[in-house]
Amino acid sequence: MIADIVRDSLHENYDHSLYLSLGQQWPDGFLVAADALGRPIGFLLGVMQVDREGRILMFAVDRDHRARGVGTQLMQAFLDRCRTQGLRRVTLEVRVSNATAIRFYTDFRFSVVDLLRTYYSDGEDGYQMARDTA
Ligand SMILES: CC(C)(COP(=O)(O)OP(=O)(O)OC[C@H]1O[C@@H](n2cnc3c(N)ncnc32)[C@H](O)[C@@H]1OP(=O)(O)O)[C@@H](O)C(=O)NCCC(=O)NCCS
Repeated sequence: MIADIVRDSLHENYDHSLYLSLGQQWPDGFLVAADALGRPIGFLLGVMQVDREGRILMFAVDRDHRARGVGTQLMQAFLDRCRTQGLRRVTLEVRVSNATAIRFYTDFRFSVVDLLRTYYSDGEDGYQMARDTA
């Protein structure tokens, strides 16, 4: 289940209704990757914001399925959907300690645009990263 991936990968425990309501805002912005049996192995949840901006709220791949291109597929599909939707820019937040994710995003041409002090509930700083959809 997606909630299991979130708990293990993002160390958060959200109520199920949160996924439903966020997914309803822009159904095409909620992408799920599944294994051959249809079980979720990764997902990306994005929303639309003002000024034709997309924002990635959650993005994780199950740890047993990482480094096999699942995250790349999800990100490519999400950027395609942003373009289809006419969005011009995508933003996200990431922990400053999350070197793997920062490298992943940098490979996707995201760059750091802001330092968000004590952004996370445990006090860690975050980076805001962004890229154009073009
Ligand atoms: C970030 C994340 C979603 C990437 O998903 P993934 O399916 O592993 O990504 P891919 O297999 O498509 O990897 C693409 C690139 O990411 C980088 N990468 C992925 N795993 C890596 C690792 N363990 N070490 C270093 N770089 C890595 C590489 O640049 C890789 O390119 P390569 O395959 O040509 O070497 C995944 O690592 C994850 O779920 N992390 C935990 C949750 C998280 O941090 N989410 C982001 C919060 S903002």
